[in-house]
Amino acid sequence: MTPFRLLLSVALSMFVFSQPGVAENEAHPATNRVPAHVMSYRGANWLERDDRYLLEQPDRVIATMQLKSGDVVADIGSGSGYFTRRLAKAVLPSGTVYGVDIQPEMNAILAENCKQEGITNVEIILSEEADPKLAAESVDWMLLVDVYHEFQQPIPMLAKMREALKPGGKVALLEYRLHGDTGAHIKLDHRMSVEQVLAEWEPAGFRLVTRHEFLPTQHMFIFEKTDLVTAAP
Ligand SMILES: C[S@@+](CC[C@H](N)C(=O)[O-])C[C@H]1O[C@@H](n2cnc3c(N)ncnc32)[C@H](O)[C@@H]1O
Repeated sequence: MTPFRLLLSVALSMFVFSQPGVAENEAHPATNRVPAHVMSYRGANWLERDDRYLLEQPDRVIATMQLKSGDVVADIGSGSGYFTRRLAKAVLPSGTVYGVDIQPEMNAILAENCKQEGITNVEIILSEEADPKLAAESVDWMLLVDVYHEFQQPIPMLAKMREALKPGGKVALLEYRLHGDTGAHIKLDHRMSVEQVLAEWEPAGFRLVTRHEFLPTQHMFIFEKTDLVTAAP
C-alpha cells in the first residue's frame, strides 16, 4: 500500500468509524490528554486488514507475553478479535480468553470470527465504559491494543482492571508512538508518549516491568499490578 493510501485508510477509519452515542469525557488530570473517539463496529473490517500483520506483528507481541496453558487472559477492547483469537490459541489446551468490549456489535463479530475458526475457549463479555465486568482477582494477563487512548473514563476503568488482575497479574499495553515520525499517519489523539502512559498508569497501581520497541509504529509496555495506588478512582 502506498503511503497516501495508508494515510487515507487510517484517516477514514478514525473519522468515519467513530462510534456515535458514546459520552465523551474530559482531559486526564495527570496529563491533560483528551480521549479519542471510540472506534465504531462499522470499521471492524479495518481491524482485519492484510498489512496489519507486518505492522503490528501479533504473534511476536503474544510471544513476548510468554503465556502458558491454563492462563486466563482478558483482551480489553477486543474488537473483531484480531488478537483475541491468537491469544486463545496461545493458552491452549486449558486456558481461557475473555473478549471484553463495550459494543455488542463488535462482540457479535468476534463471536462469528471465533465460530468460523473453531475457537471454543473465548468467553465474550459486554463491558461498560468504566468497568470491564470481570470478577476480582480472576485474570493472569490483560492485553490492550489500540484501545486505552479510547477510554472515556480511564481512571475508574484502570481501577477496575487492577481489581480484576490476580496478585502479580500483568498487562501488555500497545499504543502508537506520539513522538517521532513512525506514528505520523495516525491522528494525534490516537497516539501516546511514554511519559503520558507512565503518568497515567503508575499512580493507578501498575509498575512498569519492561518496554519493548520492536514494533515499527507502536510502544509495547508490560505492567505488573502493585499495591501502590495513589490515584483515586
Ligand atoms: C481500535 S479498536 C481495537 C480493537 C482490538 N484491540 C484490535 O487491536 O484489533 C478499539 C476497541 O476498543 C473498544 N473500547 C473502547 N473503549 C472501551 C472500554 N472502555 N472498554 C472496553 N472496550 C472499549 C471499542 O469498542 C473497540 O472495539
